[in-house]
Amino acid sequence: MQAKHLELEQVGIDFPTPKGPFTALTDVNLKIAKGEFVSLIGHSGCGKSTVLNIVAGLHQATTGGVILDGAEVKNPGPERAVVFQNHSLLPWLSVYKNVELAVKHTMRGKSKKEMRDWIMHNLELVHMTHALDKLPSEISGGMKQRVGIARALAMEPKVLLMDEPFGALDALTRAHLQDSLMEIHADLGNTVIMITHDVDEAVLLSDRIVMMNNGPAATIGEILDIELPRPRDRLKLADNPQYNHYRHEVLTFLYDKQKKIEPVSSHIKSNQAGGGSAKKANSKSDAA
Ligand SMILES: Nc1ncnc2c1ncn2[C@@H]1O[C@H](COP(=O)(O)OP(=O)(O)OP(=O)(O)O)[C@@H](O)[C@H]1O
Ligand SMILES: [Mg+2]
Repeated sequence: MQAKHLELEQVGIDFPTPKGPFTALTDVNLKIAKGEFVSLIGHSGCGKSTVLNIVAGLHQATTGGVILDGAEVKNPGPERAVVFQNHSLLPWLSVYKNVELAVKHTMRGKSKKEMRDWIMHNLELVHMTHALDKLPSEISGGMKQRVGIARALAMEPKVLLMDEPFGALDALTRAHLQDSLMEIHADLGNTVIMITHDVDEAVLLSDRIVMMNNGPAATIGEILDIELPRPRDRLKLADNPQYNHYRHEVLTFLYDKQKKIEPVSSHIKSNQAGGGSAKKANSKSDAA
């Protein structure tokens, strides 16, 4: 592994709250090699988005810091593109123009045609060329997320940061985009950090799965190396013992070692509200 591409060193963060500082993260240490695909998994509220936002330069760590290719990350930058948990398109710009705005300064010096071809290529990857002139309010949540992914890819970032990028999508679109992401990652070799709640997605896509402890003062609990050869085929992997072993490891971490104990009464209430207890713990298949 090439070391020293992206390093999180002793990262900790305190958020100010009316009751005093709240320590969300402490002692997060992680070295990521160039081109590596790392997933972050952990229960809701443990601090995954906070880690990603610190790498993006949107939050400043209270202790420690992030170093990318030898330089400390202090601000957001185009070499670290983010796909947010909730799509974040500019509502007054069309699909095409949202992507165009993001690539304008990374493609300075290119001709109009080159720029248009590049925007179209990235929108094709996510199957959104049919809606170029639509405003975000005129397309579905899943479509907005696809445009967000195209926008991030079009910036050709060194590091692609994705916060539950496929969480809002139906299963087929999700599978299709996971496959596209694997192809794009193989072609471009960018470093990816992706947050997911989906255990299958984490195993299918990752070189390493970073499993986080529950907060407050959350940190990395375990790291699992996924040594499945690439390219990976979801159908073949379904019966692969190694694949199932990895799945089991992650599920054990989440539901045994980091189990969240909920009082029985809350399960009864959720059943009465129409959501079964299994569904509550598992709103997506095997989701954390
Ligand atoms: N700006 C903030 N001020 C105060 N507390 C915050 C702030 N941002 C996050 N937190 C707290 O830090 C913790 C981690 O939040 P974070 O959003 O990183 O969790 P997460 O793992 O991404 O959760 P989810 O899976 O639900 O998205 C939570 O307890 C959250 O309430
Ligand atoms: Mg989050």
